[in-house]
Amino acid sequence: MNTLQHIAIIMDGNGRWASAKGKNRTFGHRQGAKVVREITKYCAGQNIKYLTLYAFSTENWLRPKSEVDFLMKLLEHYLQSELEVYQNNNIRFVVIGDVEGLSKKLQKLIHAMQDATTQNTGLTQFLALNYGAKNEIARSAFSLYNRNVFAQAKTLKREQAIEYIAKNIENTLDTRGASDVDLLIRTGGEMRLSNFLLWQCAYAELFFTPTLWPDFSAKELESILQDFYRRIRRFGGL
Ligand code: FPP
Repeated sequence: MNTLQHIAIIMDGNGRWASAKGKNRTFGHRQGAKVVREITKYCAGQNIKYLTLYAFSTENWLRPKSEVDFLMKLLEHYLQSELEVYQNNNIRFVVIGDVEGLSKKLQKLIHAMQDATTQNTGLTQFLALNYGAKNEIARSAFSLYNRNVFAQAKTLKREQAIEYIAKNIENTLDTRGASDVDLLIRTGGEMRLSNFLLWQCAYAELFFTPTLWPDFSAKELESILQDFYRRIRRFGGL
């Protein structure tokens, strides 16, 4: 049976869910936040080690200002009200993405929640905020450049140098310390990766569901997990 340590989810479909009900798109995001709580608690209870959720991409700034502002307020509210759930379920909270591009208030709340949960040993939840995989890899390369990793690599043989650089990139990514993604789920019916965890998903099993994120549930996740366990993973071998 496959082992499952890391689940990543592209939470899509909030806007369509709300529009179908004749409501403002923000209603969908509010409902989406409730599903975030349900899925996070479920994964903590299943002894999953890592759950990475795509909440706001580097491209989401292109949305109308009113929607961006609403999402930022929703995130602030979430960080101010959710600590108890994380502590009661032994969940460590870590934000991935270019945190410096977020408001000072949000940055402060993120650091407070990260610091408060840093000792928790159960699930690690990575929340992707102002996240883009290309940006993450470029930030990683910039850090290697600043630490003279390329000069070090130059003293090695080609194959060793490439391995050395790859290890250094891995150790500098926002998800450093975590295993690669085993299962990537996208809700909302679209079949694309949208600049999410491109490095970490090298051998991820992909699962696309038409269910809109506010309708997603622990029950549906459970049936996706059954499917995952039946898949044959070869990691390039035979
Ligand atoms: C995609 O749906 C969803 C987002 C861009 C935001 C995700 C946010 C949440 C799930 C809620 C907030 C999260 C937390 C942690 C408080 P969409 O708006 O692109 O939907 P559409 O494709 O139907 O337009």
